[in-house]
Amino acid sequence: MYDGLKRIRTVSALRRQVGAWRAAGERVALVPTMGALHVGHIALVRAARRRADRVVASVFVNPAQFGPNEDFSRYPRTLPADMVKLAAARTDAVFTPDVAEMYPDGFCTTVSLGGPAEGLESAFRPTHFAGVATVVAKLFTQCRPDLAFFGEKDYQQLQVVSRMARDLDLGVKVVGVPTVREPDGLALSSRNIYLSPEERQLAPLIYRALTAAAERIAAGGDAGAAADEARNLLESQGFSVDYVAARHALTLAPVASVADGPIRLLTAARLGRTRLIDNVPVPAG
Ligand code: PAF
Repeated sequence: MYDGLKRIRTVSALRRQVGAWRAAGERVALVPTMGALHVGHIALVRAARRRADRVVASVFVNPAQFGPNEDFSRYPRTLPADMVKLAAARTDAVFTPDVAEMYPDGFCTTVSLGGPAEGLESAFRPTHFAGVATVVAKLFTQCRPDLAFFGEKDYQQLQVVSRMARDLDLGVKVVGVPTVREPDGLALSSRNIYLSPEERQLAPLIYRALTAAAERIAAGGDAGAAADEARNLLESQGFSVDYVAARHALTLAPVASVADGPIRLLTAARLGRTRLIDNVPVPAG
C-alpha cells in the first residue's frame, strides 16, 4: 500500500508513525541522507522499497560531521526538489528534523569508534566519523527501522556504520547499495556540482585509475605498488591525492595482496576546491 509522502519534523511524530506501521506488522526501512538527492540516493530508496513495506528517508545536513574548514554552510540544500524525487520513488515519509531537534541544548555525547574508522578519511577528517556515527545512531534509535540503506560510494562510512550497528546491538540490519556512476565512470555525488567544466572532464580518471589498479591486484600484483601507480597517474593529471589504499573489504585493515582476503581499493583526491572520494572492489582472482 502507498498513501503518499508524509513530512515529519519531530522525533516523537516519527516514533508514532513508525510504531503504527510496525504494530500493523509492516517492515520499515530507513535511508539516511543529507538531501541534495541524486539518482544514487534514489537507488537506495528503490533498494529499500524492494526489501520493506515502508520507507523513511531522512534529510538532515549534519553539522557534527563537517570539519571547521569544510563545506557545511555551502552544502546544497534542495528540500522541495528532494521531496518531489522521494514521492516519485514512493517514499512513505521524509524526516526533516532541525538542528535543535537533533542536538538539543547541552548535547555532549558522541560514539567512539575504532576498527574500520581508523585511517583513510579519518587521517584527513579526524572528527568526521564520530559525527556520522553519532547522528546515525540517533536516527536508528529515533526511527527504529528493521533495515537501513547506505551507498557503497562512502565505503568507509558503510563499514563504520555496519560495525557500530553490530557492536551496539542497535537491532538494525545495515545494507550496502552499489555506487551509481555517470556513463563516463564518475561516481554520483552531491558535491559534483562544485566541479568546473574542466574539472568535470578530468574527474572520471579517478574511476579509471582505480579499476586499472584493481585489475593489476586481481592478477596477483602487489597491492601497495598498484595503489602507488594509481596515485602517480592522478597526481600527474593535476589531482591532489589524499590517499589511494588497498584495504581488507570488511575490516579495512591494510592488505598486501589477494591472499590477505577480499580487497577494496579506496581513494580521496582533490580537484581544485572539490574533494572527491571513490572506491572499487578488487575482483576475486
Ligand atoms: O552519507 C551521508 O549522506 C551522511 O553521512 C549520513 C549517513 C546521512 C549521515 O549524516
